[in-house]
Amino acid sequence: MSHSSAKRIGRYDLVTPMMPCKDEIMEKFEKFLVSGQYILGKEVDALEKDMAQQCGVCEGVGVASGSSALFLALGMAGVRPGDEVITTPYTFDATIEAIILLDAVPVLVDIQPEDLNISPAAIEAAITDKTRAIMPVPIYGAPCDMDPINAIAEKHGLEVVVDMAQGFGTLYKGKPMGSYGRMSTLSFYPTKNLPGIGDGGMVLCKDPQDAARIRKIRAHQAVRMNDHLYTGWNSRLDEVQAMVLNVRLARFAEEQRDRNRVGEIYDGYIPAAHRLQDINPGQGNHVTYHQYWVRTTRRDELQKLLDENGVDTAIYYDPPMNHHVLAEYCREGGPMTEAERAGREVLILPIHAALPFEDAHKVGKLVGEFLAQESASAAS
Ligand SMILES: Cc1ncc(COP(=O)(O)O)c(C=O)c1O
Repeated sequence: MSHSSAKRIGRYDLVTPMMPCKDEIMEKFEKFLVSGQYILGKEVDALEKDMAQQCGVCEGVGVASGSSALFLALGMAGVRPGDEVITTPYTFDATIEAIILLDAVPVLVDIQPEDLNISPAAIEAAITDKTRAIMPVPIYGAPCDMDPINAIAEKHGLEVVVDMAQGFGTLYKGKPMGSYGRMSTLSFYPTKNLPGIGDGGMVLCKDPQDAARIRKIRAHQAVRMNDHLYTGWNSRLDEVQAMVLNVRLARFAEEQRDRNRVGEIYDGYIPAAHRLQDINPGQGNHVTYHQYWVRTTRRDELQKLLDENGVDTAIYYDPPMNHHVLAEYCREGGPMTEAERAGREVLILPIHAALPFEDAHKVGKLVGEFLAQESASAAS
C-alpha cells in the first residue's frame, strides 16, 4: 500500500545535490553554446584525464553509456563469437546483454553471501577451454575480491573486464576498483554516484593501445585487431554530459562522505549478519554505497512496514539473471544458491547524498527493531 505524503523518505534525490552546481553549469553552458565545439571537445577531454587519474589507469575513453562501454571493452579484450565470459547472475541486464551482443556466451556463477559479489571459487569451477574473460561487477558499490579473481585469470590466461557501473569511488585493498582489470567500465546514468543529466559512460584502460582502438571505434573508424576487423560506429560521450560531470566530479568526495555517513548510521542499527560485510577487513576496502541493502527472510513484511511508515524501498535482481528471458543465451556454471537467496531476501533502503541524517536514523531504527523482533520470535 502506498501512502502519498510530502514527507515520504525517497530512495533518490537527483535534484538537491545538483543545486550547488547549478550556477557553474549554466555559466559553462552559455559558453558551450557559442563555442560551436559540440562534439568531443575540451570537456570530454578533461573528464577522461581526471577519471583516469582518479581510477588509477592510464586512460579513460568517454562513450555513450555504461552498456556501450561494456560492449566495447569486451570486444577489445578479444571476446569473439562462441567465447564464454564468466560473470554474476546478480546484476543488471546490461552486464549480460553486452556479452550476448558479441555472440558470446555469459556463463553465470554464484555470488558470496557477505558482499553479493561473484565468488572466486565458483569462477574457477566454471572455466572451460572456451572461457575468454571474467567480468566481475562490484554490486551496490562493494569491491569484488580482485586478488583471487586476477590470480585465476592469470593462471588460465583469461582477460578481466570489470563492470564498474555501480563502483566509481570503490577501493579494493586501498586501490581504486577500476585499476584491477585490463579494462573497467563506468556508467554516468543519473542515479549513479557520479551522475550525468542523461546517458554516458567510460572505458578505463590500463593499456593505451586498448584506449586508442576504442577512441577510433566510438567515432566511426574501423579497427583491425589480430585477424578481426571491427566496424566503427557512434558511441561518443556527449560534450554536455561531460561538462556536467566535470562539475559534479569536483563535489564527488563531499557527496560521498554524506552517503557514507548514511551507511554508517544504518550499520549502527542493523546487525552485521543482515547487511554487507567486508571480506578483507582492515585491508583498505572502501564501499561507495551505490545502494545500501539489508537482508531478511521476511523481506516483504519489512518492505510493507517501511512503506506504511513513509519509506520507499526497492528490490533488484529478483529473480537473478539465470531466470531472465536472456538466460536462453547463457550457461549456468554451477548452482546459484546465494544469488537466488539474495534475490528473495535483499531489500534496498534509501541512500543518497541529500538524505537528512535524521531520516537515516528513522529508517535504521525501524529496520533494527524489525530485525530484533524477528530474531526474538525465532528464538522463542
Ligand atoms: C551493473 C550495471 N552494468 C551496466 C549498467 C549500464 O549502464 P548504462 O545505463 O549507462 O548503459 C548499469 C546501469 O544501470 C549497471 O547497474
